[in-house]
Amino acid sequence: MTAMHPTTLDLFADDALEQQPRDEQIGEQSWVLRGFALPVIDKLLPALDGILAAAPLRHMMTPGGFSMSVGTSSCGALGWITDRSGYRYSAVDPLTGKPWPAMPEMLSELAQAAAQRAGFADFHADSCLINQYVPGAKMSLHQDKDENAYAAPIVSLSLGLPAMFLFGGFSRSDKSQRIPLLHGDMVVWGGVDRLRFHGVLPIKPGQHPRLGERRINLTLRVAG
Ligand code: SIN
Ligand code: FE2
Repeated sequence: MTAMHPTTLDLFADDALEQQPRDEQIGEQSWVLRGFALPVIDKLLPALDGILAAAPLRHMMTPGGFSMSVGTSSCGALGWITDRSGYRYSAVDPLTGKPWPAMPEMLSELAQAAAQRAGFADFHADSCLINQYVPGAKMSLHQDKDENAYAAPIVSLSLGLPAMFLFGGFSRSDKSQRIPLLHGDMVVWGGVDRLRFHGVLPIKPGQHPRLGERRINLTLRVAG
């Protein structure tokens, strides 16, 4: 190949950038949708603040008696909880004694659009789990299996500081893919991949321009 004129090179560089796949397939029915939520995040953040004012983040206790490193809350008809008696969904927030805050329409629409893009039509989440990670907080490898049925995918939205997401196989000891997740990225896993192990490595210290020293992950589910 002969040397190219610099402007030709620049053109090639732009083309290469534009052709970079924004959807990354990480499993047979699992996708990372890079930046998918960016267009709506500015409208979403005030709604999230309202939810967390009504249903504050708290460090829940695992059945084994450990306090989780993430701060947790929920919105939607059902919220995921854990305490000494086990993991489950509840229609009432045990901290406030009230129903969980409603799921913002914009959030369920975003999740539905992400699911659709990943090949799952008619995703209507009835639960959104909110996990806040400060530097050092992590999520050990686990399966999401407290939902009543597994027909619907899990749809995850990452906000704030970056995270290294672990996407494993069907047994805890299977090797995990390491997937960096940034503000605005979404991950969808369902179908044959619905019960894959996943987790998050300890969050590294840092400051995010919108969220400060934290990462917030929302996972939308059909739980009931
Ligand atoms: C979760 O598995 O519920 C959280 C995943 C994440 O924080 O990205
Ligand atoms: Fe999970």
